[in-house]
Amino acid sequence: MAEDLNIDTHLDKKEKYNQLLPQVRALLADESDFIAKQANFCAALKYGLDLFWIGFYKVSGNELVLGPFQGPVACTRIAKGKGVCGTAWEEENTIIVPDVDLFPGHIACSSLSRSEIVVPVFDLSGKLALILDIDAINLNAFDEIDKKYLEQLVRLIF
Ligand code: SME
Repeated sequence: MAEDLNIDTHLDKKEKYNQLLPQVRALLADESDFIAKQANFCAALKYGLDLFWIGFYKVSGNELVLGPFQGPVACTRIAKGKGVCGTAWEEENTIIVPDVDLFPGHIACSSLSRSEIVVPVFDLSGKLALILDIDAINLNAFDEIDKKYLEQLVRLIF
């Protein structure tokens, strides 16, 4: 059975990720179901890092379809190349958006979202299978530290 994660709230971001990483690894280690892993991944990061919204989109044909998430309701389908998520999918790269109003074509699922980071997730064959999207209510919430740790964390899904 899962236990509460133990993240020290007054640590800086890098230290929080360092605390989170082994705990998320342990949380997901004994589970083979990808939906269950994505669901607990979202809950662990939402509460561990005090996020506004975190969720996965699954590649399905020419669209991304909403998967497990934590936070307010969100857009269910995003076309390839559209928004931050569709662009990260097309480019197969992490995208950091310091101010969503300055990203052409940004899709506003919530008017409260001000900045975001989107990380592609590759399956064991190297195929882009999922997109991780994290939204914040403050500007400039994400940087290279988030990119580095989130790219490591998403590898725990597959
Ligand atoms: N803002 C994203 C859409 C997903 S929601 O933020 C959850 C985008 O532009 O792709």
